[in-house]
Amino acid sequence: MKTILLIGIGPGDPDALTLAAIKAIGRADVFFFLEKEGEGKDSLIRFRQQILQTHRGDQSYRTATVALPERDRETAGYVGAVEDWHRRRTALIATLIDTEMAEGETAGMLIWGDPSLYDGAIQHLRDLIESGRADLSFEVIPGITSIQMLAARHKIPLNRIGESITITTGRQIEQADPASITNAVVMLDSRAAFRRLEGAGDVDIYWGGDVGGPDEILIAGPLDAVADRIERAIALQRARKGWIMDNYLLRRRPQPS
Ligand SMILES: C[S@@+](CC[C@H](N)C(=O)[O-])C[C@H]1O[C@@H](n2cnc3c(N)ncnc32)[C@H](O)[C@@H]1O
Repeated sequence: MKTILLIGIGPGDPDALTLAAIKAIGRADVFFFLEKEGEGKDSLIRFRQQILQTHRGDQSYRTATVALPERDRETAGYVGAVEDWHRRRTALIATLIDTEMAEGETAGMLIWGDPSLYDGAIQHLRDLIESGRADLSFEVIPGITSIQMLAARHKIPLNRIGESITITTGRQIEQADPASITNAVVMLDSRAAFRRLEGAGDVDIYWGGDVGGPDEILIAGPLDAVADRIERAIALQRARKGWIMDNYLLRRRPQPS
């Protein structure tokens, strides 16, 4: 049997690693690095290497790095392109397992934030096992998500008493009916989709850029009042270091009864 550990490492704060993650890091014979081209690649690699240095010390381990295929952004069908991309990534992981692990070994994959939130690794491994790989098992070690870090940094609860929370993407929030939003956490927004909700009048935003990391920026307030400032902060961070990861909570203010 070969075992893969999907280890959530939090969203950029080395102190946000859990004890379970540190123990799992100690168990792996080899670490797989699946590197995405593009924004932030080098810093994300550096962060993972720092974690290994800190928590493996002198204990030796192997690493195997592959470049992840880019998603086809030209083709019109978004779902088809994502499915194809997932298939190619699954095949790459299968190759790493076949070529970089001996029978009985354990591999670690350091997953940004938590593996259950907008990350493909769990599905890739489920697909491999369902396709007949009886020699394989995997474990998920949860991490602090960028959403938890956002709420902690702003010192807010994600919902007020009894309310629902939606977790969604920039792509989806652009299509959403503004009236349907009570508490919406938005991720994967590369085009400042919050601007679409300006003028709704009673929406607050709690925005975070690179939360938990050394370049963290936090801005909160009525959406109409702070939207410009947020867009400027995004542009500034991109100009300064080439990339930014941001997320935010949109919250409708209670209506006067
Ligand atoms: C592919 S998803 C991965 C999410 C991750 N698994 C998690 O648990 O947070 C990447 C998105 O997460 C959000 N994100 C990740 N790290 C972040 C950070 N440090 N600060 C703000 N947003 C972050 C951004 O919306 C980014 O586009």
